[in-house]
Amino acid sequence: MRLILVGFGNLGRGLGITLAEKQEFLKKRQGLVPKVVAIVDETGALVNDDGIPSAKFVAMARSGKKVEKLAGAKKGEIVHDTIEKVAADVVLELTPTNIKTGEPGLGHIKTAMKSNKHVITSNKGPLVVAFKELDALAKSQGVEFRYSASVGGAIPVIELARKLLAGNEVQEIKGVLNGTTNYILTRMGEEGAPFDMVLKEAQELGMAEKDPSLDIDGFDTAAKLVILTNSLLAINAKLKDVKIAGIRKITPEAIKLARDAGQAIKLVGAAKKGMLEVSPKMVPLGQPLAVSGSLNAVTLKLDLAREISITGFGAGPKETSSSLLGDLIDLHRTLGC
Ligand SMILES: NC(=O)c1ccc[n+]([C@@H]2O[C@H](COP(=O)([O-])OP(=O)(O)OC[C@H]3O[C@@H](n4cnc5c(N)ncnc54)[C@H](OP(=O)(O)O)[C@@H]3O)[C@@H](O)[C@H]2O)c1
Repeated sequence: MRLILVGFGNLGRGLGITLAEKQEFLKKRQGLVPKVVAIVDETGALVNDDGIPSAKFVAMARSGKKVEKLAGAKKGEIVHDTIEKVAADVVLELTPTNIKTGEPGLGHIKTAMKSNKHVITSNKGPLVVAFKELDALAKSQGVEFRYSASVGGAIPVIELARKLLAGNEVQEIKGVLNGTTNYILTRMGEEGAPFDMVLKEAQELGMAEKDPSLDIDGFDTAAKLVILTNSLLAINAKLKDVKIAGIRKITPEAIKLARDAGQAIKLVGAAKKGMLEVSPKMVPLGQPLAVSGSLNAVTLKLDLAREISITGFGAGPKETSSSLLGDLIDLHRTLGC
């Protein structure tokens, strides 16, 4: 299976290392022989028609260099050209998320589909801005489109619902979908420390961004909720349809009061027909959504199975490569390439 990696950051490098480390396992257990034939970022492209050798690939991933600095790379803004012209089965779109425009990922995905290439992405932006359009384009081009890694990192909630729970109608989705806010709320509860102090420490530890607004004001959770809603509830939802409140106003006293009543305060994204909402909610301790630290959790309400919950790591290059690789194996089984 010939692959193009677009974006060579945490996930591009993490996936590259996972593919190299699991080479034998993938061949023996899945019959899958992935070949990375191109890596491209906004600075340049490295193309090798025979597939970049694993050892070289791992060394490049560990070097942390931008693509233009890799030996043998072509320099320049040649992302679309590379996606279009390099012969490949699958494009993995792994560039930064922009939930307002969807770019640059949206353009990359359209170019890939129009060049008859299957697409796997972890990028929320294109899905939030243009889910229906991309779904329709994939169908009209006859290509497969997978995005398991865009919600919940390692948690395979989308494919779980679409495949193993396919006979069910999903009626409601509830999730703790942002690791940073969950980490902050957990620490506030454990230490009785105020929000600003815990946020500052989380930023120093690299657990929160310098501009933490996307996480703590609820937009990241809302983006993931929109993706889940579109793919599992079959509602054409947009970010503007979500009523959003973040966690800035939560105090350690409120968390303690909740805990004394057997509850935790979590930033919950909830969706059903006619309602999309992100807000801090009381969750009974011991229930699946009452996860601690940076864990994520999702509960689906279903007409047959009633309720299924799944928890796990919501981010991290190795953890998220589990979902990217799952999508890749799924395409291998579907397409036989
Ligand atoms: N990290 C996680 O655990 C995780 C989990 C789930 C989903 N995601 C999502 O997956 C995506 C990738 O995450 P990441 O952590 O790997 O991000 P990252 O470390 O920022 O890597 C993004 C890569 O894309 C490159 N890039 C930026 N603009 C580009 C452009 N116009 N054309 C081509 N390449 C471009 C970046 O190059 P430069 O370094 O030169 O800017 C970098 O190589 C994001 O959308 C993120 O939200 C991440």
